[in-house]
Amino acid sequence: MLNGKQIVLGVTGGIAAYKAVELLRLLTRGEATVHVIMTRSATEFVTPLTFQTLSMNPVNTELFNLISEREIGHISLADRADLFIIAPATANVIGKLAGGIADDMLTTTVMATRAPVLIAPAMNVNMYQNPLYRENEEKLRRHGFRLVEPARGMLACGWEGEGKFQEPAVIVEEARRALAPQDLAGERFLVTAGPTREEIDPVRFVSNHSSGKMGYAIARAAWRRGAEVALVSGPTCLENPWGIETVRVESAVEMRDAVMARLPACTVVVKAAAVADYRPATRSAGKIKKGAETMVLELEKNPDILAEVGRAKGDRVVVGFAAETGELLENARMKLKEKNVDLMVANDVSQAGAGFNVDTNIAKILHRDGTVEELSLMEKELMAEAILDRVVALRLKMTRGEE
Ligand code: CTP
Repeated sequence: MLNGKQIVLGVTGGIAAYKAVELLRLLTRGEATVHVIMTRSATEFVTPLTFQTLSMNPVNTELFNLISEREIGHISLADRADLFIIAPATANVIGKLAGGIADDMLTTTVMATRAPVLIAPAMNVNMYQNPLYRENEEKLRRHGFRLVEPARGMLACGWEGEGKFQEPAVIVEEARRALAPQDLAGERFLVTAGPTREEIDPVRFVSNHSSGKMGYAIARAAWRRGAEVALVSGPTCLENPWGIETVRVESAVEMRDAVMARLPACTVVVKAAAVADYRPATRSAGKIKKGAETMVLELEKNPDILAEVGRAKGDRVVVGFAAETGELLENARMKLKEKNVDLMVANDVSQAGAGFNVDTNIAKILHRDGTVEELSLMEKELMAEAILDRVVALRLKMTRGEE
């Protein structure tokens, strides 16, 4: 998504300027071409040479520098940008932009661009709460600027509160969203991910190898494409994705309750979770002690969440996953029908590069009309985009009354 994009990174004069170096690294690692513009006060905190070395492009600081203006003028920079990021953005630069002032290289270039502008403020908490600042921010939002909410915490000035420069990784997520097609705007996604854990006693449980990566990739991709997303996740090592309401659950019963409570509000359901089909019939309150040579664990059936969603489907798009180790198509076809879903993503989890705990997947996508599409080995991030392309197409068909 960042790959091949032209990004102009504007750095202004705050102590968080040093964190813009990390942001630049993440952007170039994502294969974006980055042109840095620094205000004069930013150069008091970090040298232009640091940004120049890491971006491999000349750093612009002066509006009337004859050499840089000839090599890459501010208008050409404004025109070629796919995205502008101002990070960190001081109260001063935000005030200037809100007031229509263009008196240096950065504000002039921003004024001249038609690209989306993403602003990551960083300042003292009292400045951040100052009504003049709030008005300026509000005005920029009204004019289509995108503001990244700052973090809360210990500020460099010694105060504690909001105004802390947001994590560079979060700013990158916001940048990816700003660059993505907004073809899922207005949709409300409910995504499940990860395994469930069925407790035997206070120290043991029944579970499976699901890492949650596929479901999280779908949730993040849907958010980037403009959807509102709720993610119901079983226990995973993954961080809660930025911008997404993440509900952590343990057992299949808890997952079912969380899903059914959110179902009425959503328009698309993606069930990527690997739900345990059975749970121990009784959970021992104390740790079960070792005794006889063999032991039998009695299990009872868990609710089938996807089937329950399928029964209450209405005009929602429902996507299921089928994890198989044989007879992939036959089993997936049966599940598609029985669970009343629109798309079934079928993986042969015994194949190398597919299924649990890896970053890639290989899948077949089954449609209701019997069509089967093959998706070859690819990163789960890319597969998430491919699945969402099918959801967009289905929604289009539905609104045209073809489904
Ligand atoms: N699923 C579910 N609730 C369950 C079991 C499965 O919601 N109790 C969902 C999964 O999230 C997935 C789909 O149903 O989207 C298929 O899951 P899978 O494990 O492949 O199939 P099962 O229905 O459990 O059948 P089996 O284990 O016999 O293959």
